[in-house]
Amino acid sequence: MSDSSASGRVPAGARLLVCGGAGFIGSCYVRDVLARRDGTRITVLDKLTYAGNRANLAPVEADPEQAARLAFVHGDIADPDVVDMLVAEADAVVDFAAESHVDRSILDASAFLVTGVIGVRVLLEAVRRQTEIARAGERRAPDGTPMGAPRFLQVSTDEVYGSVEEGTSREGDVLAPRSPYAAAKAAGDLLVGAYRATHDLDVLVTRGANTYGPYQHPEKLIALVTTNAIDDAEIPLYGDGLQRRDWLHVADHAAAIDFVLRHGEPGGVYNVPGGNERANRDVVAAVLARLGKPWALVRGVPDRPGHDRRYAMDGGRLADLGWRPTVDPSAGLDATVDWYRANQGWWRAVRDASWADYYARQYADRLAASRPAEGPG
Ligand code: NAD
Ligand code: TYD
Repeated sequence: MSDSSASGRVPAGARLLVCGGAGFIGSCYVRDVLARRDGTRITVLDKLTYAGNRANLAPVEADPEQAARLAFVHGDIADPDVVDMLVAEADAVVDFAAESHVDRSILDASAFLVTGVIGVRVLLEAVRRQTEIARAGERRAPDGTPMGAPRFLQVSTDEVYGSVEEGTSREGDVLAPRSPYAAAKAAGDLLVGAYRATHDLDVLVTRGANTYGPYQHPEKLIALVTTNAIDDAEIPLYGDGLQRRDWLHVADHAAAIDFVLRHGEPGGVYNVPGGNERANRDVVAAVLARLGKPWALVRGVPDRPGHDRRYAMDGGRLADLGWRPTVDPSAGLDATVDWYRANQGWWRAVRDASWADYYARQYADRLAASRPAEGPG
């Protein structure tokens, strides 16, 4: 069953607070939940960092019925005033907000820690206060209806397990993050567990695999390769390109998060694998094949420091709960490449002056030291 309809522990018509809902996965979640037209109301709280983009919510805003059920608040999850006010009105909170790019965390980790540690703590404290009010029987919606304690779901990543040379990670495995990004995410997971143990909050964690699909910022591998190749620009491939990732389509990732929100056991941690493990070289080759572009664009560049060789998760717990991915990997990748080809206005606007600065900082020296990359077998 991959039913993500509104049911279970979060009823149809619920009021959701979606933090980071203008980013890649969060905006897909918002678009897909509102498109079900089941009465769900969503407030997005988003800081609109370089990765946040109101244009990602344009399909919702273009539909009056859906737009009426969406509110947007420009703010920071580390700001207790705005968070307290918004959590007070929510049946459930889904936290996508994060600095999400490993390479940027290597350049400067500070924002990763503020959002990933302080921000998550601020959200959990607000959930704790509302839980205490609900337990006292005093939690009420603006119209006076009694409200239960809010459910909180933290969106996390397979990167918290560290590099997995063989086998698959299970939810109970020791966390062994190796990048500042992954360490900040692991800290968030640990805080969620601590608030569960200490305050018995109704919390959940999902750990998703590498995600791809429409509206992904062009800093990430598949979006970067696609957009560079469309422009016949060089494609930087780190090291030998034989690092392995498990690719999950964004629609599946968003659906899994919604499924866990509605059906997960309180305190549960759920891996969300894609079931689609591939070497980076092969992913790059598949994008180029779809675009009809030559492998000669690919440049072997010096490796990312501390580069995790492989991520792979066991998805048995989520499958037992009743959810599996549905997007066919090849069709999903082809459709994603086609989306970038058809939506050049979206990503060309994202590639602004700050993108040019980042690109030069991240890639200028690497590309200067590059060599032709060995192709897939
Ligand atoms: P993204 O970078 O595209 O979006 C992040 C969003 O959070 C942006 O809209 C940004 O403006 C917002 N944000 C950042 N800091 C904030 C703050 N302090 N307060 C409020 N909003 C803030 O990221 P994404 O790829 O959509 O990832 C979403 C979540 O999923 C992250 O928590 C990430 O760790 C996790 N995740 C991502 C992947 C992936 O492959 N992209 C895989 C597994 C898990
Ligand atoms: P990325 O999309 O940054 O995701 P993550 O590091 O979170 O897995 O990278 C996916 C893989 O692609 C990873 O092994 C690093 C590699 N990669 C490159 O080879 N070149 C690039 O320019 C980028 C951005 C990533």
